[in-house]
Amino acid sequence: MAFICVDISCLYIFLIYTVFDCTLSSNMEIKVNPPQDFEIVDPGYLGYLCLQWQPPLDLDNFKECTVEYELKYRNIGSEQWKTIITKNLQYKDGFDLNKGVEAKIHTLLSRHCTNGPEVQSSWSEATYWTSEQGSVETKIQDMDCVYYNWQYLLCSWKPGMGVHIDTNYNLFFWYEGLDHALQCDDYIKANGKNIGCRFPHLESSDYKDFFICVNGSSASKPIRSSYFIFQLQNIVKPLPPDSLSLTVENTFEINLKWSMPKGPIPARCFIYEIVLTEDDISCMSTTGENEMNITRTSNDSKKLCFSVRSKMNMYCSDDGIWSEWSDKQCWKGDIWKDTLIFFVIPFAFASLFVILLAYLISYKQRALLKMIFLTKKEVFSHPEALC
Ligand SMILES: *[C@@H]1O[C@H](CO)[C@@H](O)[C@H](O)[C@H]1NC(C)=O
Ligand SMILES: *[C@@H]1O[C@H](CO)[C@@H](O)[C@H](O)[C@H]1NC(C)=O
Ligand SMILES: *[C@@H]1O[C@H](CO)[C@@H](O)[C@H](O)[C@H]1NC(C)=O
Repeated sequence: MAFICVDISCLYIFLIYTVFDCTLSSNMEIKVNPPQDFEIVDPGYLGYLCLQWQPPLDLDNFKECTVEYELKYRNIGSEQWKTIITKNLQYKDGFDLNKGVEAKIHTLLSRHCTNGPEVQSSWSEATYWTSEQGSVETKIQDMDCVYYNWQYLLCSWKPGMGVHIDTNYNLFFWYEGLDHALQCDDYIKANGKNIGCRFPHLESSDYKDFFICVNGSSASKPIRSSYFIFQLQNIVKPLPPDSLSLTVENTFEINLKWSMPKGPIPARCFIYEIVLTEDDISCMSTTGENEMNITRTSNDSKKLCFSVRSKMNMYCSDDGIWSEWSDKQCWKGDIWKDTLIFFVIPFAFASLFVILLAYLISYKQRALLKMIFLTKKEVFSHPEALC
């Protein structure tokens, strides 16, 4: 009996406490200010921007707890916001500077801080546009960048439409690790104008955003800049495989082998596409190995040929560019036999015959010469007889 009494009194105390707690927090509604001085700063890295802010005013009541910020940002026109929750006072990310950037941030006080529900401030907002000069038509066209064999980056472009003949374009690039944006120092030129860039050796530049800006100048009108972001491992075009070999194992099976392209790309990063031609029928297959066993569709095909091309696979990149096709490697089993019977053997016989003939002729000639010589000698050795 006594036990139950104690238990009930506990329950009462608990109920009273809870009610009191609720009224307390709803009466003194906790408010927090948004972060101050929220801004988007462009350090000149061609798209890598810094979003920064200062702590909100009147934070003194929450000295004991860490304030968090919820940051949302996107390129103007894109559907989705990227959301970040952070305790820091800045955040950096890459943006497409062909478009504007918008961002908003608010302060968050967790349940731990308020002893009640989570509290959010109103939003602080900021936008950023690069100074847009010139019309859209003055931008370069058909920008194409390829990272050859994961070694040499090459970009090329065409001039904008209707730009004046004096227009020239310049390329700048930056990636994390460089102090500042660099200008291309090996331009590809046509008629004295820059239409592409050969990049220098790029150290530790993979798996990070690579930013490019191509801007230009002309005496007649301003030129609009173009911005590009990509990751180098996604635009790799390997060399084609080499040292192809085709072995006919038995009547039905063929073994195809090749060497992976030479260079810095690891073996595990390749996928290969193989085209096998049996007489006039071609079939295609892919593999990650540098060998493949294939069953022939017909056991009396006269001619088998194959070639291979390579690409970066999904374990090493999100995308890639197929290499050129390798040289063709062929097997002409029966044709060889035919050649042997109808060409090599008759040729060998013919050659033998010719050699024999030549020998006979030269032998006869020598005999003839000897005879003449001997007769002449005979003639000269009996001069008196002649007189
Ligand atoms: C092109 O961009 C670079 C790098 O941002 C800048 O230093 C340069 O002044 C720009 N040139 C023109 C003509 O806008
Ligand atoms: C192809 O066949 C050969 C011999 O039968 C075998 O040694 C090799 O492992 C096979 N290769 C593959 C990729 O299956
Ligand atoms: C080749 O295939 C044909 C039918 O497809 C069959 O009759 C013949 O025996 C095969 N030849 C050999 C050497 O296996």
